[in-house]
Amino acid sequence: DRLRFSGVWRFKELLPFAPDDKIVTVGEGQTLLQQAESVAQYVGMNAGQLYLQYEGMNPSGSFKDNGMCAAFTHAHMMGAKRAACASTGNTSASLAMYCAVSQLMKAVIFVGSGKIAYGKLSQALEYGALTVQIAGDFDDAMIRVKQVSDELGIYLVNSVNPFRLEGQKTIMFRVLEALQWEVPDWIVVPGGNLGNSSAFGKAFTELKELGLIDRIPRLAVINASGADTLYELYERRGVRWNGGNVDMDPIRAFYDEMDRDGAKADTIASAIEINRPVNLKKCLRALEACDGVVRQVSDQEILDAKAKVGAGGIGCEPASAASVAGAKMLRREGVIAPSDRVVCILTGHQLKDPTATVAYHTTDQAVFNDVLGSRGVQRASFANR
Ligand code: F0G
Repeated sequence: DRLRFSGVWRFKELLPFAPDDKIVTVGEGQTLLQQAESVAQYVGMNAGQLYLQYEGMNPSGSFKDNGMCAAFTHAHMMGAKRAACASTGNTSASLAMYCAVSQLMKAVIFVGSGKIAYGKLSQALEYGALTVQIAGDFDDAMIRVKQVSDELGIYLVNSVNPFRLEGQKTIMFRVLEALQWEVPDWIVVPGGNLGNSSAFGKAFTELKELGLIDRIPRLAVINASGADTLYELYERRGVRWNGGNVDMDPIRAFYDEMDRDGAKADTIASAIEINRPVNLKKCLRALEACDGVVRQVSDQEILDAKAKVGAGGIGCEPASAASVAGAKMLRREGVIAPSDRVVCILTGHQLKDPTATVAYHTTDQAVFNDVLGSRGVQRASFANR
C-alpha cells in the first residue's frame, strides 16, 4: 500500500477528501521529532524538554510538501492541467516537484525580484516550472497570482487553498505520535503567510473533538521583526478571533498605514518576509483555540539561533530558526517554564539558503557586507549569546 509510506496519507482518515486512486504522494512527511541538548540549553529549557520537529527532511526540503501533496491531489481530482502559486521559495519548490514527479500538471510560479533564496529558486528552475519574477515582493506576487489564475482558470495552490492546511495538520499528528500522544505544553512555529499555525490550530481542535487528546497545547507564532503584522495586530492592537467576529477596523487601519508609509517587509528570513498574511483570520482562530501568543525576533536573534541549531547537527534555514529564537525569548520572559515540554518546528532545510549562512560564518568582510552589512547584524565570531 503506497500510502503507508507517506507521513501525510497514513493519516488520511483525518483529512478525508480524496479517493485513494487520485492521491499523489512522493513519500512526504517522513520527518522526525529530534532532540538537541545544546539547543535546549541555549533556549533555557531543562534537559530533555525541547524537541525539534525537523520538517526540512521532506522530499523538497521543507514542510510545504505536507500541504502540497494534499492541494495537488485536489487539483488532480478537479482535472487541473496547470497549478500556480506565489512564493518566497519553498511553496514553489514543492509545487514544481509534484508537477515534475507526477507529470500531471505544469507549474506556474510568481516570485518577488531578488526575494527568494538560491536553493529554492534552483529547485523551481530544475524541476521545470514556468518561473516568473515580478517587480515587487511576495505581497505583490500574491496579488498578481490571484488575478492571473482567476483570469486564466489556473488552479491556485497558495495556502488560501484549504487543502494545503489539511495536509499540514499531519505535522502535529506526527509530533503527538512521537510523544506517544502525550500533549506537549507548547508548539512554537514561525509565522509568515500563517498557514502552518492555522493548520495546527485546526488539527488540535479536531483531535480534541474526536476525543484523541484531552487538552490542547499552547501555540506561539514567531514573526521576524521586519515582517511583524501578526505581532502588531494581536499583541499590540489586541485583535482577536472573538468567536468568529473579528473586528476588521484595526486590521484595515494598519494595512492603510503600511500603504501610506510604503512599508515593505524586510528580514534576512526571506521565507517569512510577508506583510499581508493571507491566513490572518484563520490564524487568529488558531490562537484562540490554543491560548496562543505572538512574538517577534530580530535578524540577529534568528541567525544566532540558526547557528546553534546547526551546531547541534540538525540545521535549518533562517525562517525556521525564528521558532527557536522565539522559544528562547518566551523562556526569558517566564512565559515558558524550564520544565515545560516545548516543540519547535524547523520548517526548512539548512541547504535552502546557503548565502545567509556563509555570510554569517565567514571572516571575509566583503562577503559579510554584501549580504548582512546593511542589516545591523554581527557575525558568528562576534556573537556570544
Ligand atoms: N518557514 C519556512 C521555511 C517557509 O518557507 C515559510 C513559508 C514559513 C516558515 C512560514 O509558514 O506561511 O505557514 O506561516 N513560506 C511560504 C512560501 C510563504 O512561499 O514558501 P506559514
